[in-house]
Amino acid sequence: MRPKLIVGNWKMYTLRASARDLAAAVVQRVGTPKVQVGVCPPSVWLTTVAEVVRGTPIALGAQNCHYEKEGAFTGEISPQMLLDAGCAYVILGHSERRHKLNESDAFIHRKVLAALQAGLKVILCLGETLDERKANQAKAVVDRQLSGCLAGVDANALANVVLAYEPVWAIGTGLMAEPADAQEMHAFIRGWIRGKYGEEAAVRLPIQYGGSVTPDKVAALFRQPDIDGGLIGGASLQAELFTAIVRIAEQAASPAA
Ligand code: 13P
Repeated sequence: MRPKLIVGNWKMYTLRASARDLAAAVVQRVGTPKVQVGVCPPSVWLTTVAEVVRGTPIALGAQNCHYEKEGAFTGEISPQMLLDAGCAYVILGHSERRHKLNESDAFIHRKVLAALQAGLKVILCLGETLDERKANQAKAVVDRQLSGCLAGVDANALANVVLAYEPVWAIGTGLMAEPADAQEMHAFIRGWIRGKYGEEAAVRLPIQYGGSVTPDKVAALFRQPDIDGGLIGGASLQAELFTAIVRIAEQAASPAA
């Protein structure tokens, strides 16, 4: 059975004290979860949060990285720096970076390869805009993102990849995708992986959903066969809501428990 994975993307929120407090509250409330849990604070607070989550089941992740190890790249952070700061994960290809900062599939692809090579696990985000969905292009867009960002990633490296389907129209809007619509795209993504890497890789790959996930709406979504947890924005900034989402994922992972 694939692991379910709940990750908080704190985006550009929190100051040092609130980041530390939020991490401590997540550690305390989540306890020893039956699913995998991670938090991705702003990079400037990674070491602060690393001190709080060290030795706990909560994994640390970053929201972005560069593709070079080091060099004259003012303002950038390398995969090696993230590892040194205590990160296990890095989010790449988030739609806010694709659309607000013009990141291309080719650029994201270089980062995916570098992060995997460095030993990070990559959470690669995919998803269409509302216009693309209306134009019946959603699958074509996700197909293009998968081909562009995973080129040259072999089956071994794929074991360190998590995909996150985040329809752009669902992010921060309160409009979580309908479980059946999300499931359809997740099944498409898993089919794509099966076509390129084979059945075993497809069955093993976790595919998260992201976009307006809140505890009151997410139970049916997490019960879909190809949805393996969530990448949580707004609700991850409140430990109580984030923990409630973790509990729902645990319930969906082992309904008899
Ligand atoms: P919201 O949960 O705030 O919609 O954000 C989702 C997201 O972008 C996670 O990466």
